Amino acid sequence: MIITIDGPAGTGKSTVAQTIAERLGFDFLDTGAMYRAIGLEALRRQADLENHRELAFIARHAGIEFDWGHRPPIVLLKGEPVGHLLRGAEATRAASFVAVVPEIRDILVREQQRIGRNRPNLVTEGRDQGTVVFPEAGLKFFLDATAAERARRRVAQLRARGEIVDYQEILAQIEERDTRDRSRKVAPMKPADDARVIDTTALTQQQVVELIISAAQG
Ligand code: C5P
Repeated sequence: MIITIDGPAGTGKSTVAQTIAERLGFDFLDTGAMYRAIGLEALRRQADLENHRELAFIARHAGIEFDWGHRPPIVLLKGEPVGHLLRGAEATRAASFVAVVPEIRDILVREQQRIGRNRPNLVTEGRDQGTVVFPEAGLKFFLDATAAERARRRVAQLRARGEIVDYQEILAQIEERDTRDRSRKVAPMKPADDARVIDTTALTQQQVVELIISAAQG
């Protein structure tokens, strides 16, 4: 069975999806990491983030793979493990530029579908997993929360890592990224018609996990 978990940044999607995969003994696919890895490669090559042809060329040669020998799997960029480099502000921003390029979405969608064929018990998270990549998935969820709450969570996460951050700045970054994700022409972020939408604003991650597990087992 494939379980898709989509939604904007800061809804706890990643942690929730990973926990569910562990609990059910499923594989876990973080599709945002693929867009981020291409974003990182674009930054390394000092690409123009508005230039679709240049970004598409980089994506075609980026050699994004997962090392499935680890749980969660490790993202490789031309064989180099880059997971720890993908969460910074620059790669995060670059990923959302990469994600508007139709040719790049094509490449990654096909790769994600190939992974789904090889790993039929999969929890996959992103923005378009229920709508575009796995329209036939057995269970689909869309996690949401107010932008203010998502910014608050992100600030807490960054401060826990010792980073000095400003709430208003983080909120502005989240809103900028949401707008780009929701308004792009190809695969704009939205819940699939048959997805269950969960507003996580007032829920803990544990509560969200339990909701999804009980739906999966029900
Ligand atoms: O989920 P994460 O924050 O890691 O995603 C990074 C960026 O990649 C998002 O802002 C979005 O633009 C893009 N993305 C996407 N489709 C996906 C996963 C991520 O467009 N399936």
